[in-house]
Amino acid sequence: MPEATITPMAGLEALLEEPGPSAEALKRGVRRNFARRAGTYDRHAAVQRCMGRELLARSAGAVTEARRLLEIGCGTGYLTAELRRLNPRALLVAVDLDRTLLEAARGRLSPDRRNLWLMADGETLCRGDFDLIIANATFQWFAHPRRTIANLWECLNFGGMLAFSTLGPGTFRELADCLARAGDRLERRPPAIPAARFLAAPEWRDLLTAAGFDELEMVVATLTVAYPDVREFLLTLRATGATNPRPQPFSHRFLSTLSEIYRQRYGGDDGIPATYDILWVTARKQS
Ligand SMILES: C[S@@+](CC[C@H](N)C(=O)[O-])C[C@H]1O[C@@H](n2cnc3c(N)ncnc32)[C@H](O)[C@@H]1O
Repeated sequence: MPEATITPMAGLEALLEEPGPSAEALKRGVRRNFARRAGTYDRHAAVQRCMGRELLARSAGAVTEARRLLEIGCGTGYLTAELRRLNPRALLVAVDLDRTLLEAARGRLSPDRRNLWLMADGETLCRGDFDLIIANATFQWFAHPRRTIANLWECLNFGGMLAFSTLGPGTFRELADCLARAGDRLERRPPAIPAARFLAAPEWRDLLTAAGFDELEMVVATLTVAYPDVREFLLTLRATGATNPRPQPFSHRFLSTLSEIYRQRYGGDDGIPATYDILWVTARKQS
């Protein structure tokens, strides 16, 4: 079945509200980082796939029963393809900030009129009648999570589910520690890592409850991945677009000091560890 082109699509603009000016700058950085890595993301996104598999397991009933499904931050379409496989009949609206990523996701699915591809900021969705809103490894990049969660409540049908996985502030705690130490040693202010502003489980709980969600289920887990060295670790972050939306490039001297400190403090036989602080959430809009 032929399908519609990527938008902002006729009819779907009504789902959007205008973003504010400071959010715009952050958004541009997030979009640029992910768009540049559309070609390398899939090869390096093992952690994101692991987050996605668990997210699907936690929302399986809602996925198969949904008639209208919204995915925010579809990226290259790993989760999108799984959603379509698990539910061949639903209307599936996939949203991302960037056209390149939407094109990659669209290429992953068979053409189908029930797939709609919307180039938009998922934080500006404010209307809809979805049975399930789902997002894998995306909500940590939001600039206005409180307002967005309240908006998403409005976009759900009564009885509908919001399901997402996200990263918490403990993500890359070893890197944050070593950046601070390298900064002290070289007497310069260390660059902040994006995770410094990611929300933790209790904060998400407050936002969800304040928006009116019920039946909250939250699971936190840490996953530690070993990389051969700091350079490989940072290259993986770059290849998946998970870098600072406001770039603060390291000097060669800073990078070698950072690598030395990381190796000394955390290095072992497996190389160097990096912790991912992961949160899975499901919540209902009660009927
Ligand atoms: C880490 S990737 C995850 C992609 C995909 N969900 C997956 O599991 O592989 C995050 C994605 O969210 C998108 N994104 C970030 N903020 C967004 C927003 N406010 N609205 C829509 N998409 C957003 C990025 O462009 C990127 O494609």
